[in-house]
Amino acid sequence: MSKTKTTFFCQNCGAQAPKWIGRCPSCGEWNTYVEEVLQKDTGKNRSPIKSDSKAAVPHLISEIEAGKENRINTLNGELNRVLGGGLVTGSLVLLGGEPGIGKSTLILQIALKLQGKKILYVTGEESEQQIKIRAQRIGEASDSCYILAETNTQRIFQIIENMQPQMVVVDSIQTLHTDVIESSAGSISQIRECAAEFQKYAKITNTPVILIGHITKDGSLAGPKLLEHMVDAVIQFEGERNHGYRILRAIKNRFGSTSELGIYEMSGTGLREVINPSEILLSNREKNLSGISIAAMIEGVRPMLIETQALVSSASYGTPIRSSTGFDTRRLNMLLAVLEKRSGFRLGAKDVFLNIAGGIRVDDPAIDLSVVVSVLSSNEDIAIDQNICFAGEIGLSGEVRSVNKLEPRLAEADKLGLEKIFVSKYNLKGIQQKDYSIEIIPVGRVEEVFAKLFG
Ligand code: TYD
Ligand code: MG
Repeated sequence: MSKTKTTFFCQNCGAQAPKWIGRCPSCGEWNTYVEEVLQKDTGKNRSPIKSDSKAAVPHLISEIEAGKENRINTLNGELNRVLGGGLVTGSLVLLGGEPGIGKSTLILQIALKLQGKKILYVTGEESEQQIKIRAQRIGEASDSCYILAETNTQRIFQIIENMQPQMVVVDSIQTLHTDVIESSAGSISQIRECAAEFQKYAKITNTPVILIGHITKDGSLAGPKLLEHMVDAVIQFEGERNHGYRILRAIKNRFGSTSELGIYEMSGTGLREVINPSEILLSNREKNLSGISIAAMIEGVRPMLIETQALVSSASYGTPIRSSTGFDTRRLNMLLAVLEKRSGFRLGAKDVFLNIAGGIRVDDPAIDLSVVVSVLSSNEDIAIDQNICFAGEIGLSGEVRSVNKLEPRLAEADKLGLEKIFVSKYNLKGIQQKDYSIEIIPVGRVEEVFAKLFG
C-alpha cells in the first residue's frame, strides 16, 4: 500500500507543520491549520514543465553580461509606470485586488491592445463567452489574443507548449490546480505549487506571466506571503468599489520603485487612464462650501492636488463619532487631539467625519495640514477660498512640519492656477518665491494658519 502524504498549512500565512497545531507560531493566529493532501504516492507525478537539461555552471560576476532588461511596453502608461517602465520579459507579476475592482478588465484591456503579440489568457473564473462580452464592452478587437477556459496546469502547459505565446495571463491563480498535489483548488499548497510552476515557466522561456489573485477580507492577498516571495512584482488595485477611481500600487517590484502609483477611472467602456490626477479634484467643485480644502500631495514622484472634506457637528449621543474614508482614523484622532490640547479648539464633543475626494487612500503625511484646515473650516462654518492649497505635516505639539519634495508640489499647484499655498516655514530652504507665481505662505503653527485664514 502506498502512503498518502499530507501536511498541515496555516490558512492565514501559509506556514506549514507536520501535525496540527492550535496557534500558528509564524503569524500568531488561532485555529488556522488545515490538513492538505500533498501527494498520493503513485510514482507518476511529474512537474509539467520541461526544464533545460543543461546543468548550471558558476560564472564570475565580472564576466556576466548585464544585458538590457527587456521590457514590453503594455501600451498603458499607468501600468507601465507602476511596473517601472513596462513589463519585464520573463517576470512573474501578481495583480491583487478585491472582487469587482477591475482586475480582469484591466488585464483583458491590455491583452487586447497589444496587437500582434500572441497572448494566452487563461480563465478559470469566467467562460469564454463572458470574456467575449467583456471584450465587446471594452470595444477593442484583437487577432492575437487567445482565451483558454481551463484550470488544470498540466493541460495549460501542454497548450502553451504548442502555442508558444509571448505573454500569459492567469485569471485567477486561486482557481488553478495541478495534478502533483491532491488538495482542492484554492488551498495554500495548490496556490503555491501552481505559482511555482508558472514561475519556472516564466524563467525558462523568458515569457512574462501575469497572475491575478484575490484578496482576503483583511485586505491581504490570499495565499499571501508565500506568493509575494515567489513573484517578481506584486501590484494591487485599490479604491472604493462604488467610486469610479481605482489606484494601482506596486507593493513589491524587483525591477522598479514601489512608490509609483497608477490612477484609473472605471467607465462604461473599461478602465480609462487618468493622466492628470488633479482632474479628480477639479471636477465637480462647488463654490463656497465650508469644510473643504485642497492638499498638495505626492504619491511616488507624481504631485497631485486633492480635496479633503470634513464635516463637524455636535454629537447627539455621549461619545462623539470620528470617522474617515481614505485617511487613517487613528491619525485623524491624533490631529483632533492636537487641535484640542495644543491649539485650544473645542472639538471634544463634536462628531467629525472626514473624506478624501475620489475614494482615494492617501498615505502622504503632507495632507495633515489640509485635513486640519477642513475640520476647522467646517467647525467655524467658513468656506476656504478655492485658490488656496496646503502642504504640511502636523506634529504632536501643533507645529507645522516640513514635507519632502516641496518643489513639484509648488509646480503642480502653480500649473493649475492656484494663488496661495501654505507650507511649513522650515521648508523654505532652497525655495525661491520668484520661481513661482503662486504665493508661498510660510507658517510655524496651526494657530497661525487659523489666524491667517479666518482672521
Ligand atoms: P472585473 O474586471 O470583473 O473585476 P475583478 O476581475 O477585479 O473581479 O469587473 C469590475 C466591475 O467593473 C464590474 O462590476 C463591472 C464593471 N465594469 C464597468 O463598469 N465597465 C466596463 O467596461 C467593464 C468591463 C466592467
Ligand atoms: Mg475577475
